[in-house]
Amino acid sequence: MIKISGFKISKHNSSNRIINIQIKDKTLEKLSEKFSRFDLTAIEYKPFTRFTVAKYLDDLTNNELSKYLNDILRDRKTGCFIIGLEKLTSDTDDIFLVKLSTAIVHLIGLPNHDAMSGKFYARFNVKHEDKSDSYLRKAYTNLDLHTDGTYVKDVTDWLMMTKIEEKNVKGGESVMLHLDDWEHCRELFNDPIGRENFTWSSPKSKNVDYKVEHPVFFEDYNRLPQISYIDQFPEPKNMKQGLFLQKLSDSLEGSKNKVITKLPVGSAIVANNYFWLHGRKPFKKNKKLFRELLRIRGTFFKI
Ligand SMILES: [Fe+2]
Repeated sequence: MIKISGFKISKHNSSNRIINIQIKDKTLEKLSEKFSRFDLTAIEYKPFTRFTVAKYLDDLTNNELSKYLNDILRDRKTGCFIIGLEKLTSDTDDIFLVKLSTAIVHLIGLPNHDAMSGKFYARFNVKHEDKSDSYLRKAYTNLDLHTDGTYVKDVTDWLMMTKIEEKNVKGGESVMLHLDDWEHCRELFNDPIGRENFTWSSPKSKNVDYKVEHPVFFEDYNRLPQISYIDQFPEPKNMKQGLFLQKLSDSLEGSKNKVITKLPVGSAIVANNYFWLHGRKPFKKNKKLFRELLRIRGTFFKI
């Protein structure tokens, strides 16, 4: 494994494709001090400050971190890292985690506008009770494997999911699946229905007032499969499309090669959105259940 001073880097316990990056205490202290120059309003209102905090992070590694993160995300064999903190302290609060997430993604690319929050990032809660209109906040239902950005016009090359806080949580593990580990990838990728245009829409809470059309599968520059799919939002036009989506959903959920991992508070999963799918297992019932997440999606910088 590559060595970067101030960070501990290893392979994930359950998958060689996922790299674990732990930020050591000393590095966190330095970061926290640097980040304190800006409040969240500055980060939100002035896009250039987002690059400044990103540079603070990269400078601590002689600019090695940005290269490494980009290499991981663009490499088909990996495409995913989990970055976390050696230890949570009073300095690594929610504000620090927003700044850190901002810094990390600005070493990779530009965030998309998140229509749900009206910002470049969205923070949202999962609780015992939910009256929303999508699976995102339904604690006791499986959040099925999917990619992000399926129903928007924005290009979504990557996504970040940071766990800001949780209390009284059992279950709710993160679930990841790499296309090349999925048993039925070739079969469904080669099905002509998967290359037809599907119509994708979204419920009200997403604040997206248009529909888009695109296939489920497409090819990368090496003709390898890529996917853009979520179970709730395609509108099948006929029986063929309906049955294809059902088969796809059953096959993804039935995969034996899913990586199931418990994401610690303060950690973030960052994944390539073309060949990694993500989801979440249901939580165990608890009236006091609380989880807060942050998400950012975006495009890669051109290199
Ligand atoms: Fe998602």
